[in-house]
Amino acid sequence: MSLTVGRRQFLEQLGRSGAALAAGSWLASIGYSAAAGPARAIVNQARVRSELDRRLFGSFLEHLGRAVYTGVYDPGSPLADANGFRRDVAGQIKGLGVPIIRYPGGNFVSGYHWLDGVGPRAGRPTVLERAWNSLETNQFGTNEFIDWCRLVGTEPLLGMNFGTGSAEMAIAYVEYCNVDRGTKWSELRRSHGYDRPHGVRTWCLGNEMDGPWQMGTIPARDYGRKARDTARQMRVLDPGYQLIACGSSNTILPTYLVWDREVLEECYDQVDAISLHNYYGNTPALTGNSTARYLAMNLDMERQILEIAAVCDYVQGLRKSPRQLWLSFDEWNVWYRARGGDFADGKRTVAPHLLEEVYNLEDALLVGGFLNTLLRRSDRVRLACLAQIVNVIAPLVTNERGVLRQSIFHPYAWALQYARGRVVDLQVESDVYPISGDGLRADFARNDHVPFVDVAVTVDAAKGQACALMLNRDLDGERELILEWEAPTPTRVLVCETLTGSDLRASDTFAAPDVVAPRRLDAPAAGPRMTFRLPPRSYTVAHLATG
Ligand code: AHR
Repeated sequence: MSLTVGRRQFLEQLGRSGAALAAGSWLASIGYSAAAGPARAIVNQARVRSELDRRLFGSFLEHLGRAVYTGVYDPGSPLADANGFRRDVAGQIKGLGVPIIRYPGGNFVSGYHWLDGVGPRAGRPTVLERAWNSLETNQFGTNEFIDWCRLVGTEPLLGMNFGTGSAEMAIAYVEYCNVDRGTKWSELRRSHGYDRPHGVRTWCLGNEMDGPWQMGTIPARDYGRKARDTARQMRVLDPGYQLIACGSSNTILPTYLVWDREVLEECYDQVDAISLHNYYGNTPALTGNSTARYLAMNLDMERQILEIAAVCDYVQGLRKSPRQLWLSFDEWNVWYRARGGDFADGKRTVAPHLLEEVYNLEDALLVGGFLNTLLRRSDRVRLACLAQIVNVIAPLVTNERGVLRQSIFHPYAWALQYARGRVVDLQVESDVYPISGDGLRADFARNDHVPFVDVAVTVDAAKGQACALMLNRDLDGERELILEWEAPTPTRVLVCETLTGSDLRASDTFAAPDVVAPRRLDAPAAGPRMTFRLPPRSYTVAHLATG
């Protein structure tokens, strides 16, 4: 028998023994420790991660492909209301209770003339949209978006054109939207039939300005100065605006973190938050096509959050500022199949089929993981947007007859419906499995250990309710998770559902819409110690009444 143990085998054994894990691993940074046997989490509502800002579960609507046209706005459709808004889509989004929606882009915003999209529809120009090489008819613009937000019960998060646009036109946009009356741009809005101001509170100062693909991309310090100047002028209109500066667009650009530092060194005192974006996929470069690695990608998201937070705090220290910035993860999702080439080229048509990613079960499990990470980091990330909401990399897809909920709809819906109140800082133990970074893209190349079980808990003391969101990354085996409730004590299980299946690549279609759908899971009796039996490759929600 050979005494030489291969590296992979060694790591596997280390993972199984539960004796893992040295400092520097992911586990410590997410507050987990490795232990063999059932996973265990201690819940005590006195240990608070955050009072949940519901904007953590926001989404995103861009003028891109069929998101706006035939997604939310389809005036020729029998499914549309008198304003041309799709009733079925609006019903789904209202039912979800999405708290905030970012608009109008994305890359689109960097070439957008907001004036083209307001006023009488007949006078609005059709223009060549250069981010996605599409035709933009401007029949849906800012005022329609605000009307639609009211219809679906969400808050608008407006982006400004920092690409081809000037600070002057950005401020004019704010004035158009928010000043009551008596000025050039507010009177223009009133002449368009909107007597009352829109009251938009939160603004994105551009989009992905670090990206070489972005119209008008500029160096970090130039962007930072423009952001500072624009923000300062905006604060004359209202010092209370929540302003989000553009942070790095992903973790692989060579400017990652340097961009953020330089931008913030220029505009720290004038902004409230910095943005993070990232998209994930089960690809040879990112995961080696390994589902086990793929389901750990929410921990990569978590690392990005920690790194950007560290840059913010560095600049805070440098500036000796009393204010700590919060983070806006305002684009995140799985996106890797419908990407690039024809998927991103509208070929100068109206409402082309672009970025129409079809989501499967494993994507939904990872989206569950992302939601857990956002909850765990909700002390710092106050706002986040699932990108996007309909037709374009989205949980909802339309055709002329109706709307389909894709697999990723379900974890998102659970978080929206049940995660409320306060996010509890958990102490979690879980068995772990090894991952290897061999051959992976640098920002995902990690030799590390991943907990099989990932859990987030919220407690809503006012309502006497709690929620646990539980990911089992074990592809083959059921895993037990013991929730030990120090306070409060669950008294009744209101809902316990899981998303799982034998085929990780299964997807929903209009013909078979319930292939990947939640099913009831047997829950343990409510009480101070509850052992959940999490099916292999599953994401589970438990909604509980508490004493
Ligand atoms: O969401 C799709 C695109 O991804 C957005 O337009 C852009 O901001 C990002 O690169």
